[in-house]
Amino acid sequence: MSATAMGAAPGPSGLPRLLAGLDPRGATMTHADHVRVHGELPRSSPRQLIEAVEMSGLRGRGGADFPTAVKLRSMAGGGRRATLIVNGSETEPASAKDRLLLTRLPHLVLDGAVLAASAVGAGTVIVKLGEHSREAVRAIEGAIPVRPAEPVDLHLAVGPDGYVTGEETAVVQYLNRGVAKPTFVPPLPFQRGYRGHPTLVQNPETLAQLALIARYGARWFRELGSEADPGSALVTISGAVSAPGVYELAFGTSMTDLLAAAGGASEPLQALLVGGYFGTWVQASRAFALRLSREELRSVGCALGSGVLIALGERACGLHESATVIEYLASQSAGQCGPCAYGLPAIAESVRALADGVAHERERERVLRWCAQVRGRGACHHPDGAVRFVESALSVFGAELEWHRRQRCTAPPVGLPLAPGGAAGPLPAAARR
Ligand SMILES: Cc1cc2nc3c(=O)[nH]c(=O)nc-3n(C[C@H](O)[C@H](O)[C@H](O)COP(=O)(O)O)c2cc1C
Ligand code: SF4
Repeated sequence: MSATAMGAAPGPSGLPRLLAGLDPRGATMTHADHVRVHGELPRSSPRQLIEAVEMSGLRGRGGADFPTAVKLRSMAGGGRRATLIVNGSETEPASAKDRLLLTRLPHLVLDGAVLAASAVGAGTVIVKLGEHSREAVRAIEGAIPVRPAEPVDLHLAVGPDGYVTGEETAVVQYLNRGVAKPTFVPPLPFQRGYRGHPTLVQNPETLAQLALIARYGARWFRELGSEADPGSALVTISGAVSAPGVYELAFGTSMTDLLAAAGGASEPLQALLVGGYFGTWVQASRAFALRLSREELRSVGCALGSGVLIALGERACGLHESATVIEYLASQSAGQCGPCAYGLPAIAESVRALADGVAHERERERVLRWCAQVRGRGACHHPDGAVRFVESALSVFGAELEWHRRQRCTAPPVGLPLAPGGAAGPLPAAARR
């Protein structure tokens, strides 16, 4: 099948794509407006849709970067009792993209959910949101009843907040037993998930992208970006920039243009945190040479993760900021795996001591040793993400350790968000594009 064999309508050229028609005053797009912008829900066979998603090269936008078509194929034949969960937990404090989509463009996400569910034969869609997302809850509550008759049942579930509650097995366990903690795998959700049936868990942005691919085709999707990194992505940019917000950018955009989209740096920058609190710090001088591409980011040990970029100004203290983040991540462990429950608090305590200048140089080696011991030993990837962050902090800000031992650091905290939905403060009401 060719990339356009689904009889795709011509799609919007250039950007915005996902954010096309977004009301600058902050209103939720109605179903009628949504249909005016994107047309009716396309009707294609499951095989056609999965092939189009495969040819588009779409990868998950919830952080794991997994090829979406592979997930869809793994669920094929799951039967009507299979379920699709829209993972709208958005537990990364510095991320606001999912909230933006669910609150302002709920029908685009629901279209993607209905299409993906139909493609795998699932009879139920559950939109799972966190308690912090009150506006998204209202938008989805309002959107579900006004949709035309659907081939699947749509439901909304609201769960507790907390960094690990958005991990997919935690989402499934919450819906099954009311316990929002990750479970040991296997079985993975696609094998045995909601009520014991095959369950597909997808991020809202992934589904919104899928809704566009179903309408406009894989070839259209690939008009932006590169062969290896096709399409566009939503990036939440915050920190020392003039206009923090959620921006839709094409893969391949230079880091300089990315920052320019957010109004440019508001002061000279020393580093960027790429990929959120499971991400990595990169020195600003190195970061400016990068593009939004998986390969280029990987070359400096980074990944886009859930699309978060935080700019750290020169006046801030990267060591103290990192100590605050790792303390937060340690406090968010579900407390059920030793390396995570005991390892992360010990690492956090040592990083704080290093930042306060009260630990010996040997403490750094101890932290790095603990990081290696913790990695890969939890039921979920929480400890892996946390130690990746710590290792990058000690690498990028390591040269400052000696100075911190000799002098008192008086840099004021920059106020990194420490709760889901925390990016709400610095973000403008209308996300800029
Ligand atoms: C600790 C932890 C927290 C996570 N939180 C979220 C979240 O809030 N939203 C999300 O979509 N994915 C989150 N994920 C990733 C999910 O487990 C899963 O990979 C994702 O929802 C799959 O959707 P995708 O393939 O569309 O990216 C988290 C993963 C981990 C390890
Ligand atoms: S690794 Fe940590 S967060 Fe993940 S399940 Fe185990 S204790 Fe919970």
